[in-house]
Amino acid sequence: MSEPTEKSLVERTSRAEKEARAIEEELEKISQGDLSFIGDPRLEQLLTENEKLKHRLVILENAVKAEAGSSSSTNKESSKKEPKKRPILVTDITSVEGNICVVNELKNIFEHSITSAYPDLVDPPVVITLSGNNPKFGDYQCNSAMAISQLLKAKNIKSSPREVANNILNKTAPSPIIERIEVAGAGFLNIFLSKAFAEHVLNSILKSGVKPPQVKRERVIVDFSSPNIAKEMHVGHLRSTIIGDSICRILEFLNNDVLRLNHLGDWGTQFGMLIAHLQDQFPNFKTESPPISDLQAFYKESKKRFDEDEEFKKRAYACVVQLQSHQPDYIAAWKLICEVSRKEFQKIYDRLDVKIKDRGESFYQDRMDSVVKMLKEQGYLEEDEGRLIMWGDEKHEGIPLTVVKSDGGYTYDTSDLAAIKQRVDEEKGDRFIYVTDAGQYTHFMTIDACARRAGILKDGQRVEHVGFGVVLGEDKKKFKTRSGDTIKLIELLDEGLKRSLDKLVEKGRDKVLTPEELMLAQEAVAYGCIKYADLSHNRVNDYIFSFDKMLDDKGNTAVYLLYALTRIRSIARTAQISTDTLLAEAQKSGLKLTHEAEWKLGKVLLRFPEIILKVSSDLYLHSLCEYLYEISSAFTEFYDKCFCVEKDKEGKIVKIYYERLMLCEVTARIMEQCLDILGIKTVSRM
Ligand code: ARG
Repeated sequence: MSEPTEKSLVERTSRAEKEARAIEEELEKISQGDLSFIGDPRLEQLLTENEKLKHRLVILENAVKAEAGSSSSTNKESSKKEPKKRPILVTDITSVEGNICVVNELKNIFEHSITSAYPDLVDPPVVITLSGNNPKFGDYQCNSAMAISQLLKAKNIKSSPREVANNILNKTAPSPIIERIEVAGAGFLNIFLSKAFAEHVLNSILKSGVKPPQVKRERVIVDFSSPNIAKEMHVGHLRSTIIGDSICRILEFLNNDVLRLNHLGDWGTQFGMLIAHLQDQFPNFKTESPPISDLQAFYKESKKRFDEDEEFKKRAYACVVQLQSHQPDYIAAWKLICEVSRKEFQKIYDRLDVKIKDRGESFYQDRMDSVVKMLKEQGYLEEDEGRLIMWGDEKHEGIPLTVVKSDGGYTYDTSDLAAIKQRVDEEKGDRFIYVTDAGQYTHFMTIDACARRAGILKDGQRVEHVGFGVVLGEDKKKFKTRSGDTIKLIELLDEGLKRSLDKLVEKGRDKVLTPEELMLAQEAVAYGCIKYADLSHNRVNDYIFSFDKMLDDKGNTAVYLLYALTRIRSIARTAQISTDTLLAEAQKSGLKLTHEAEWKLGKVLLRFPEIILKVSSDLYLHSLCEYLYEISSAFTEFYDKCFCVEKDKEGKIVKIYYERLMLCEVTARIMEQCLDILGIKTVSRM
């Protein structure tokens, strides 16, 4: 098909304009009292036709603008530029589903009105924020007027922010999601949400469950946990495991295609001394599986010998050579050691309910050869005191990667280069996430830069480093046991279990719950509190590990939230209302937000899609924790002020407020979904 010419576009625009005008004239007549159209099926048709034509008009007008711009300018780029598609706005409340992202819809609405008010501004800022606590300022605000006033000033047009705000307001078409908009102060547009809209959204959640907001499905590779074989899996790896798992969960909830990878440190020179030590300690290791129960101790012993015994050191190096040339006996010994380690790691993953696929550094051996060959051929590698290095930046800024060591061996850098190539070419990833301590930031940014320079990564493919701070003890020093040893993760989890049971017994729960319920509560609290303590802090900061704080049932902790949730769940239970009865009631009346406290809670619940989208993009999970806490605070306020079930003096139920029980149900469902994303198990009783 040939490109439409400017002339044909102008012709088509004026034709569309004429048709739209004719229809508008008819509609005008109707609005002025000519009622002959009422009941006429053509009315519906005309209305839809009019909508469609308006859209076509905008598209054609934009095309004409782009065409006109390209014929007068010499800039080839602009002629190729597609006219920016204006988002389609919600016009009918019944078409809205429970997963609508309110803030995005508001952005769309104001993008429309701002571009109609100021068509000459290129990409005008559309700033929508939450309004804070004072109900006077509405629920959201559009704060674009100040910035636009500045932009106009630069073009020598004087218009105060208040004038701009009024102009925008005049161009804002009514939306079923907005009740009203007010211009306030220096030029803020205060947006008040429609209650009917909020009720509709919450009713949809009641009917069809909590659904994720819609996003483009992507293939995401999440590299997390990744401990090193034979070395200890330390608290840093625990953080990576918890944060990484939660990131996978949120991306999976959004229906992405997620690959959870454990980039185990399973290859390297440390295996030389381990194999040498194995040969000495368990000469029959090939036929009899050696009873190594404590691989860390085994590692320490071999390291000690390596440091103190020259003879042993030499043998260890020889073992490395044998292993690297894939000598079967040595490969067998290596596999054996890896297996012992993996079994230990798996115990942690099972306890924390974390699914992950092992794919250690050894997986990339051949791929390292080929990536090095490719980089060499393409001239990216430079010699530096015998090693081969690669700069991410042609100006040689920052730190280069060491791709080949002076002895010809490969490094951590080489395996990550091979890994990213494999993840692009074979795994077809769009987004590559690495969850490690903040100290590795530069490493991954250099991997990104080098991979881009070498054309391994293409535009649109993103590398993200999810860094986190150090875990500290309550003394604010490095987290250690009382005797100064590093803490074994399994022992840490055991202590969590013990402390959580103590806490439950202290509250007398062992007398109320069945043994089965008590055990479920104990585990949910123990692992939940460890995860939540980690996730609820901004991950870039160091965090202080304190069982006392995380097991506190007041404040922003897992225990508090789990209690809050069981309380909500018990409201319907004590009223003896089954979910089915509730849903049947919902079919009749639907959920209503009448009381001020109901309305307030409803608006918090409405923000779920917004929070999910934010967290899945910036990968800061503490916002999700803060949101959970906000829900439970809003719920407490609602529950204090609004009866859900009324009882007489004898405790007999006299009245059930079904609409409020529906609000409880939606609250519980959203909280459960959030907790699930955080990897925290919920219990029905605790
Ligand atoms: N094994 C490394 C460590 O313990 C983490 C590996 C992270 N992933 C990667 N692709 N380099 O620090």
